[in-house]
Amino acid sequence: MKNKIYDALVVGELNVDLILNSIDSFPEMGKEKLAKSMNLTLGSSSAILASNLSSLGAKVSFAGKIGFDQFGVLVNDSLVNKGVNTDYLIRSKEWNTGATIVLNFDEDRAMVTYPGAMEHLTINDIPDEAFYLSKHLHFSSYFLQPGMQPGITDLFKKAKELGLTTSLDIQWDPNEKWDFDYQKVLPFVDVFFPNEQELLFLTKEKSIDNAVKKIISFANHIAVKLGSKGSLLVTNGKTVFKESYLNKNVVDAIGAGDSFNAGFIFKFINGFSLEECQEFGNLMGAINTTAAGGTTAFTNYNEIINIAKEKFGYKN
Ligand SMILES: Nc1ncnc2c1ncn2[C@@H]1O[C@H](COP(=O)(O)OP(=O)(O)OP(=O)(O)O)[C@@H](O)[C@H]1O
Ligand SMILES: [Mg+2]
Repeated sequence: MKNKIYDALVVGELNVDLILNSIDSFPEMGKEKLAKSMNLTLGSSSAILASNLSSLGAKVSFAGKIGFDQFGVLVNDSLVNKGVNTDYLIRSKEWNTGATIVLNFDEDRAMVTYPGAMEHLTINDIPDEAFYLSKHLHFSSYFLQPGMQPGITDLFKKAKELGLTTSLDIQWDPNEKWDFDYQKVLPFVDVFFPNEQELLFLTKEKSIDNAVKKIISFANHIAVKLGSKGSLLVTNGKTVFKESYLNKNVVDAIGAGDSFNAGFIFKFINGFSLEECQEFGNLMGAINTTAAGGTTAFTNYNEIINIAKEKFGYKN
């Protein structure tokens, strides 16, 4: 077998975010409003995870689908700027790159998403080489990628057969049907990363305890994200709660979950104990909330650790 080049292969959705801020008043049909500022950036939870894992120092490759358009160029270049390899990005001639238009007004926002190319990524788009060259597979945003859904068990099974470690964050289901066969998929997932709400909806339970009981026999390790409270780690039949590195001056929490995943996976692929992975996940989630958006707080390992020490009293 060839030598592994990548610490992690991230398979997931890609889109741009076009964010309009300080709009005169709430958008209305048939009327034109003015916005005082605008930002066009790389969006998507998978891209935030890949970027931050790369900023921590891991070698990351991304497999995803974009269009043959300017937004596709922006997605590709933004990942490359974060040190992420884009050899496995497919540029579809049929579909445009996904885009989310965000209209921010006061504390509220309206969003419209065109999923585009990301919906059409399938397991057949991921070349065998991508598996052979990677140590770990992470897949994110199951419900946004109908093209990947029929092949999801095969994706994780193949990764395990080829000796990769694996992780999964299904994220929110916009249709709120929660049609994900965890009994089939989770046996091939080393670390499952739901947040509290997602875990409850997925298992159709009202308490975390019952949800964990229901899912535990299918899962290996579960890290449950609890927002500003911290996280739970369920492993070897026991549940460990770790309090967050509480940030009382949150700029925004966009991408906190993805940054938690990035921190956890970074330690996991470097052979640390699961509790150390959880701790570092909490720390990265907290650091995420110190700057706008999901990637701004993450430049390189040394600077990330400096923020951890200065703002959260982290001792490594
Ligand atoms: N205010 C905060 N202060 C410190 N840490 C925080 C704060 N908010 C979140 N975190 C950390 O970030 C982690 C992930 O956040 P969260 O629970 O919001 O994930 P999520 O719901 O998956 O988010 P996302 O919307 O990004 O998918 C938490 O487990 C916690 O460790
Ligand atoms: Mg999440």
